Amino acid sequence: MPQDSARSLKGKSIAVTGASGTLGQALLRQLQAQGAKLTALTSREVSSVERDRPPEPVFQTLSWKVGEEAALAPLFETLDILVLNHGVNVYGDRSPAAIEKSYEVNAFSSWRLLELFLSTVTETNADRKEIWVNTSEAESNPALSPLYELSKRTLGDLVTLRRLDAPCPIRKIILGPFKSELNPVGIMDGDRVAAKIVSLAQQGHTNIIVTINPLTFVTFPIKEFCVATYFRLFSEPGA
Ligand SMILES: NC(=O)c1ccc[n+]([C@@H]2O[C@H](COP(=O)([O-])OP(=O)(O)OC[C@H]3O[C@@H](n4cnc5c(N)ncnc54)[C@H](OP(=O)(O)O)[C@@H]3O)[C@@H](O)[C@H]2O)c1
Repeated sequence: MPQDSARSLKGKSIAVTGASGTLGQALLRQLQAQGAKLTALTSREVSSVERDRPPEPVFQTLSWKVGEEAALAPLFETLDILVLNHGVNVYGDRSPAAIEKSYEVNAFSSWRLLELFLSTVTETNADRKEIWVNTSEAESNPALSPLYELSKRTLGDLVTLRRLDAPCPIRKIILGPFKSELNPVGIMDGDRVAAKIVSLAQQGHTNIIVTINPLTFVTFPIKEFCVATYFRLFSEPGA
């Protein structure tokens, strides 16, 4: 269900993580076309990202690292929208290192960034702040990668839990397979996926589903409703 009325992104300050990846680049292009003021957040050296990127679009690029999220606090004070898009897939690896990497990158770093951003929301700026979190249709369907599923489901569930009390909208981005370094056999095209994400967000959708798998349009809303209801009944906002 749409959460807000259609909204303009023109002039909005937006930061996107995973900026050097396929979807990160595509989102930055789409958001720039809407007139947003962009910050590309990358875990790479900034110089390497600028070398790899074509001359257009032009926007600020900042480096960040998993575990050092707090360093982004000054940026987050100035942002209207934070897009949490970074992610990793360890495929069939089930070593302790793969477990740690999957949860740290896919779940806990995003959760820390989300909390940092929420801490910048006040009564006066709440109407222009929001977060978009790229989980995956792996929240409700198999992705043939156990640790990817586990870590993305953890992130998805944390978002479901936190948006019960969040002071600003938190949108989930639920995507099917698109071609990228993370998924070289993905079927959809990253630019088309990004265009659809931006369009659905502007229409105010809380759960932005872009996939070729019709089952996701059934399994995800059922799963989301059940989990949110369970969390609402058996947890409290706290102090
Ligand atoms: N491709 C698919 O089929 C698919 C389907 C559903 C959901 N998704 C999700 O979509 C998002 C974008 O993925 P993509 O397909 O565009 O893959 P991608 O091209 O591999 O981009 C992912 C980006 O995440 C960042 N990243 C990777 N490891 C990191 C680490 N250790 N610390 C911080 N950042 C790290 C990197 O960006 P920087 O180097 O700029 O930091 C990387 O380019 C991911 O969250 C993914 O799970 C993808």
